[in-house]
Amino acid sequence: MQQQPLQHNSDVLIIGAGIGGLTTAIKLATQDPALRITVLTKTDESESNTRYAQGGVAAVWDTSVDSFDKHIEDTLIAGDGLCDEAIVRIVVEEGPVRVREIIEWGARFDKNRQENYDLGKEGGHSANRILHYKDITGWEIQRTLLEKAHQLPNITLYDHYFAVDLITQHHLGYTVTRLMPDIECYGAYALNKSNGQIETFRSKITVIATGGAGQVYRDTTNPVIATGDGIAMAYRAKCWIENMEFVQFHPTALYNPAGENPAFLVSEAVRGFGGILKRKDGRPFMEEYDPRGSLAPRDIVARAIDNEMKISGEECMYLDCRHLDKADFLAHFPNIYDKCLSIGIDPMENMIPIVPACHYFCGGIRVDEQGKSSINRLFACGECTSTGLHGANRLASNSLLEALVFGHRIAASVREQLPAIGLQEGIPDWNAAGTTQPGEMVLITQSLKELKEIMSSYVGIVRSDARLKRALDRLHLLFEETEALYDHTVLSPQLCQLRNLITIGYLIARTASLRKESRGLHYTTDYRQQQNIKQEFIL
Ligand code: FAD
Ligand code: SIN
Repeated sequence: MQQQPLQHNSDVLIIGAGIGGLTTAIKLATQDPALRITVLTKTDESESNTRYAQGGVAAVWDTSVDSFDKHIEDTLIAGDGLCDEAIVRIVVEEGPVRVREIIEWGARFDKNRQENYDLGKEGGHSANRILHYKDITGWEIQRTLLEKAHQLPNITLYDHYFAVDLITQHHLGYTVTRLMPDIECYGAYALNKSNGQIETFRSKITVIATGGAGQVYRDTTNPVIATGDGIAMAYRAKCWIENMEFVQFHPTALYNPAGENPAFLVSEAVRGFGGILKRKDGRPFMEEYDPRGSLAPRDIVARAIDNEMKISGEECMYLDCRHLDKADFLAHFPNIYDKCLSIGIDPMENMIPIVPACHYFCGGIRVDEQGKSSINRLFACGECTSTGLHGANRLASNSLLEALVFGHRIAASVREQLPAIGLQEGIPDWNAAGTTQPGEMVLITQSLKELKEIMSSYVGIVRSDARLKRALDRLHLLFEETEALYDHTVLSPQLCQLRNLITIGYLIARTASLRKESRGLHYTTDYRQQQNIKQEFIL
């Protein structure tokens, strides 16, 4: 017998349980024990991008050698003219307090023999300012936040619930357009993966914290959950999305001919520790591209590696760590060391083969300094957002920091707004009439492969008008086929993710084709210079 779909009510619905979602939830729950907070996560609660963060959290810590101004300047330089300086200042200046908070909640960061925090360095940083827990900082943060969230009785965490769409006036039968100033969000529909039912989560305020979308490319450091669901949902709800062309490729994913998904990351902290990028014959090459060498900002290093691979026809470049002290290396990077050994590479004896891989989305849901989106009652936190911090290229280890600072700010703003907001009446159950079970999963898996190929071939590190046009044409076809499938098929996470990833691919290719210049992470052979006019595309 068909079960009756459930309706859940909460004050705040948070979609996502990585650093962005959990920080916001904990902040709200501790500040007001009367609030009912619901957190959704689409797989196991511990699976997220956050869990895989290696290098650490950037924060000004040792003021004898570092300062807010230096961290601000490094962030602005990496962002290549597109950062919002006021937001950069907010994040950098509020960052250390927020990091201290998670230390109080139980997060451990490595210390040196003098019992001071062992501060690492990564590309584009002018000082050592990265707090880390060995090379598994994200695992430690995810652990801490989950433990804290579980101690708070007013947080209810639903795992294996897949958010499908935001609820707006559209679901009440009204026409909603992108130009409307007063779109409102009343919660979300989510697929209960244990029984296939779509349940209604009504909320006074909704926070999207669904992370990035690395899975739109063939090679990515992002886990398979990173399918851009939140950005795609927000776009369908007519929310403002921006800066999607600025996709960060990490220069050093471990080259593994077995083609693992996700690709294993070799942290930039390894270069901060003295690792040097080299050609197969052992000659360093980064100084030929940038005086900062192996520690230049990521966009420059990833492009240089891509270029070296194209010139030489080699499938990878190399990271040489053989000159480093083994005991020190093992103490800092035990996880990386073990992973390399598992594929027959001893970093103390062999150069580590590396390739660039899609890593991070600088753009996303445009939010203000309180984390509010262009839709009323809808906030967003973490990698799914465009806050203005990263501009055209994110400085390493600024992402975890951004989520901590904005989680706090969102909680403060939500608490101010809540007294004036009620739960929306009259929200209909999800309408699944006329849909049938999918007959052929191959239609979904094959389309996903095609999508990744299109994005990797035509919308990767180096772009051109012709490649982008080809991508947009191919994406259009995939979009039409997938929408037809979506309209007639009982929903599955696989189908929803494919649909969301096609939207993400479209948003990247579209913004990339509008930007007639090369800047930060967007590099096109048709317009190699920067334009003096600030170009902003809000989709
Ligand atoms: P995530 O941590 O990705 O969490 C997303 C959550 O949303 C998950 O719980 C997921 O289940 C849920 N979700 C997604 N879609 C749905 C849906 N449809 N329905 C329900 N739930 C959904 N940054 C740094 O600052 N320092 C580092 O050292 C660093 N290292 C990194 C190393 C790797 C390998 C990777 C991949 C990233 C790294 N980053 C680092 C980036 C950083 O980890 C991420 O940007 C950050 O963790 C994102 O956090 P988030 O909360 O926004 O999203
Ligand atoms: C890394 O450890 O290289 C990743 C850091 C980041 O993405 O900020």
